[in-house]
Amino acid sequence: MKKLKVTIAGAGSGYTPGIVFSMLNHEDFDIAELRLYDIDKERNSDMYIILKYLFEQKNIPVTLIQTEDPKKAFTGIDFVFSQIRVGGIEMREKDEKIPLKYGLVGQETCGLGGFSYGLRSMKGFLELVGYIQKYAPDAWILNYTNPESIISESVRRKFPYAKIINACDMTIGIEEIITNSFGYKRENWIQTYYGLNHFGWYKSIYDITEGKDILPEIIQKIRNEGFDVSSEEESWAKTYNNLAKMIEIFPDSIPNNYLEYYLYPNWYVNNANKDYTRANQIMDGRLKKIKETVQLITSGKAKGDIGYEGTDHGKYIVDIAVSIIHNKNDRFMLIVPNMGSIPNLRSDAVVEVPCYVNAQGVEPISLRFNIPDFHKGLMEAQVAAEKLLVDAFFENSYQKALKAFTLNQSVPNGEVAKKILDEFIEINGDYWVELK
Ligand code: G6P
Ligand code: MN
Repeated sequence: MKKLKVTIAGAGSGYTPGIVFSMLNHEDFDIAELRLYDIDKERNSDMYIILKYLFEQKNIPVTLIQTEDPKKAFTGIDFVFSQIRVGGIEMREKDEKIPLKYGLVGQETCGLGGFSYGLRSMKGFLELVGYIQKYAPDAWILNYTNPESIISESVRRKFPYAKIINACDMTIGIEEIITNSFGYKRENWIQTYYGLNHFGWYKSIYDITEGKDILPEIIQKIRNEGFDVSSEEESWAKTYNNLAKMIEIFPDSIPNNYLEYYLYPNWYVNNANKDYTRANQIMDGRLKKIKETVQLITSGKAKGDIGYEGTDHGKYIVDIAVSIIHNKNDRFMLIVPNMGSIPNLRSDAVVEVPCYVNAQGVEPISLRFNIPDFHKGLMEAQVAAEKLLVDAFFENSYQKALKAFTLNQSVPNGEVAKKILDEFIEINGDYWVELK
């Protein structure tokens, strides 16, 4: 089996060690060379220092390269794992805080924060895909960069033949909180889930050991006992408790937790600290830890284990790569053009559905049932809003951006949509294309 060369794009991210150790821990992922690519040299260097230390500690025989040059980053590569965040955590903070000022949900991928990020992210991500097409057109791009429905739609339009797989680990997170709370095993499950990214529902969970759909039983347990969130970070604990609340009002399916921003926006806004959002928590948590670790290493004070290891988030994307390399046909929830997977939804929507992954890439399943009007209606409005945003990007259209903002499910009217759009235009500056 060929030894792999892999590039992490956006390597300065705090998620990088988790992905790297998930690769190294996977016995079927044989990596010879790891390249760290980021446009932020300082953050890239920080991650290089951390990984170099860990590789030496653990005697890991993988060549480690740091580069800010796309040609060096991608030439001759087999896989690119992308987790770039255009504008960094500083701009995430703005995405979260600006809508909150107007009493609307301010969030990284949902609501208008997600749209602000979407317009930034398309610009940076398409540039990245352009480099990969130029220097490594045969490489697989495994993408975690958000907001994924928007990214995916924009890549489909500009690079229809790019070898890209868009994956989100959130369904894994939901399944883990269920298994950890109630003692199930995910390996025994065949899940049926449908939606858009961060906007979907479990329709059934077939347990092969029991030979039946256990979704009704899981819903009952969630309603009776709630989730066990004791080992979750505070903000994720809140998120999962809200998931349980959504099930209380709509008890026929398990929703993606991100729907809280559309179904419980007032709760979210009333409980948010407008001066200290998730971005601030990450600055004071993950990002501070990186700086402190680098300081320990460079001053010679680091010893042994420094608290980085493989993660579920990392394992998910590595499992996808392994399924390609070994033609395993494993099943994952992935973000793909609908093309009939959800029969009663427009075929040019970008949806998240179960897919098989093999040496050829992704083979989405067809659900073979029509989704209910409640979900369909919510999704259709969201798809239209996302399409308008992507149109706005390619056509430099202010009108389309305004319509996208107005149609976003977290926005009550065009008046407030316009105010927030105008403020985001100012704040994003050259991170956005010009809107005329
Ligand atoms: C989940 C989602 C990702 C999102 C992340 C945010 O993993 O699937 O799309 O980026 O959560 O986590 P954070 O810790 O950065 O708030
Ligand atoms: Mn996600």
